[in-house]
Amino acid sequence: MSVLVDPDLTEDGLRQAIYDGKLIVLTRLQAVRDLVDYTRDQLIELFSPHDPEHAHEHIEPAEMAKLLGAWKPRWIHSERSKQLVCDIITQAGLPAEFTHYDVPKPRTSFPVGHLTTGVAYAFPWHRDSWYSAPFQQLNWWLPIFPIREDNSMAFDQMGFGRAVPNTSDTFDYYRNNAQRLSSAASVKQEQQARPGAIDHEPQPELIVLPSPGSVLLFAGAQLHKSIPNTSGRARYSVDFRTVDARDLLAGRGGPVVDAYCTGTAVRDFRNIKDGSSFDEPTVTRLFGAPPDDAMLVFSATEAERSAQAV
Ligand SMILES: [Fe+2]
Repeated sequence: MSVLVDPDLTEDGLRQAIYDGKLIVLTRLQAVRDLVDYTRDQLIELFSPHDPEHAHEHIEPAEMAKLLGAWKPRWIHSERSKQLVCDIITQAGLPAEFTHYDVPKPRTSFPVGHLTTGVAYAFPWHRDSWYSAPFQQLNWWLPIFPIREDNSMAFDQMGFGRAVPNTSDTFDYYRNNAQRLSSAASVKQEQQARPGAIDHEPQPELIVLPSPGSVLLFAGAQLHKSIPNTSGRARYSVDFRTVDARDLLAGRGGPVVDAYCTGTAVRDFRNIKDGSSFDEPTVTRLFGAPPDDAMLVFSATEAERSAQAV
């Protein structure tokens, strides 16, 4: 598996390299640095007077779930977060006209023994494709504070394009949207369906540690996981996804050989230039018609209700 740092590629070449399994680190985007500054300042304010990386030493898991359950939706749906994400994507060279993005998600990973469910769940080995991501999905991942081998994420170097036993058949995107309403309130026990690989212990794993101000890009088809945090420090990162409309229509994307989930997340994506979503006839043609009672998207309104539920 190759890791390319600031590669000299066209926008088509960049997407294709990712679909082919390469990991890409971009270190020179001003908008990434701006998003890091913006998010770090918010976390410092949220946990004041405590250092965000050590806030778990002072705040009980239930209180932490409450704080984050209120802050995360606010951050996710703020205009500043959305604008910075659009700037990151266009500064990386992807055209606004054809690129659709999903709202960014702030992730928190606390040391083992603290809050590890709901808003701070550590994902086991999985592909985002097992969570109904379109095969064209690119993942963008960036740390807010310096990360380490014992609190970041890992890739399976041999798992790209190779089927592994997994539980993705338990996942339906529309049902999951309905279940997410209770996720923020979940402190001790995980509520949502979380597909993962079965008895998977890859050798070797690859860990990439971009510094704050850099962003890591990888295909939604990559087999990856959150590393259980044994660092003693909380890890804060931001991730978001993009889909290129031309690739979606042409069927170009990463290899997905073992996704058995149902439904699609493609309705979550909005065009950078005009905010439009993919039109429903196209979505239905590509992904099939949803059931009549399906919760097709998890909206900002529902996220707020979810936050208030804690
Ligand atoms: Fe993932």
